[in-house]
Amino acid sequence: MRFSGKTVIITGAASGIGAEATRLFASEGATVFASDIDDDGGSKLESETDGDVRYRHCDVCSPEDIRKLMDGAAGETGGIDVVFNNAGAGGARPGIDEIEPDEWDRTMDLLLRSVAMGIRYAVPHMKGRKGASFVNVSSVAAVGPGYSPTAYAVAKAGVLHLTKCAATDLAQHGIRVNAVQPGFINTNIFTSSLEVPEEMVDTAKAAIAQMSSNAQPVMRGGQPRDIAEAVAFLASDAAGFMTGASMIVDGGITLGPRHSWDPETPGLFEALEAMEKQAQGQS
Ligand SMILES: NC(=O)c1ccc[n+]([C@@H]2O[C@H](COP(=O)([O-])OP(=O)(O)OC[C@H]3O[C@@H](n4cnc5c(N)ncnc54)[C@H](O)[C@@H]3O)[C@@H](O)[C@H]2O)c1
Repeated sequence: MRFSGKTVIITGAASGIGAEATRLFASEGATVFASDIDDDGGSKLESETDGDVRYRHCDVCSPEDIRKLMDGAAGETGGIDVVFNNAGAGGARPGIDEIEPDEWDRTMDLLLRSVAMGIRYAVPHMKGRKGASFVNVSSVAAVGPGYSPTAYAVAKAGVLHLTKCAATDLAQHGIRVNAVQPGFINTNIFTSSLEVPEEMVDTAKAAIAQMSSNAQPVMRGGQPRDIAEAVAFLASDAAGFMTGASMIVDGGITLGPRHSWDPETPGLFEALEAMEKQAQGQS
């Protein structure tokens, strides 16, 4: 019961990582304000989760919605202890040579400004609360290109820098700020962001589950629980000496090129060895 008596805010809580984090924090005694734009999914989560879960509508692209969420939760419970800035989607897909300004802005509002404003409007309710902390969702896409569309990757890299700057701004108030960088986690984000037609969603989900199970050195698919556990740790007193840090939870997907861990994928040295053997066989 690491979060007994604590007030926890989670954005994007109706699905995937946010829903699992809601279940975990609630199971450990927190009052969880689970927010989303998916009101049906959020209400279902509230009614089906054991513990004190209160669903609230909040579009993180709207600073006013975020302010109301934070003020409302603090008004009900007396303050805020933990904020998990999690809401997100895949963002605009065009590359840098084709993306339109409004697509760029919408992606930044959803993935980066949302986190900044999530911090901005929660802080007044966190000052003076022992052990108060933020956990922001970044991504392995912040490590380098190749994991996501460009705008998403840039926004998630921004979340890492924001985490460090906010950690220094808020240290004087005893508030910690950390980030988590999930790898390939099997959630609805892939089908919803890709706007897969309704009739293909089940097939697409099965294919994604299959892909996620062998996409990284750890030989299973990443699950929302893997990320929720890291978030709970970062938000807990056990991480009391961590601030401005980021935890990569990716089954090793960013460790190195595929041939470094997958015996089925030959790398340069294996290819050279094979060529040498072939040449020796010919001589
Ligand atoms: N799944 C992965 O592989 C992965 C990897 C790295 C990072 N992430 C990040 O983790 C976070 C959670 O993603 P997920 O995988 O659980 O996806 P998901 O689609 O299962 O859940 C995302 C939730 O965010 C909500 N949401 C979308 N736009 C919103 C808005 N404007 N305001 C409020 N809520 C909104 C959705 O309704 C949904 O409930 C996202 O920020 C995502 O970028 C996911």
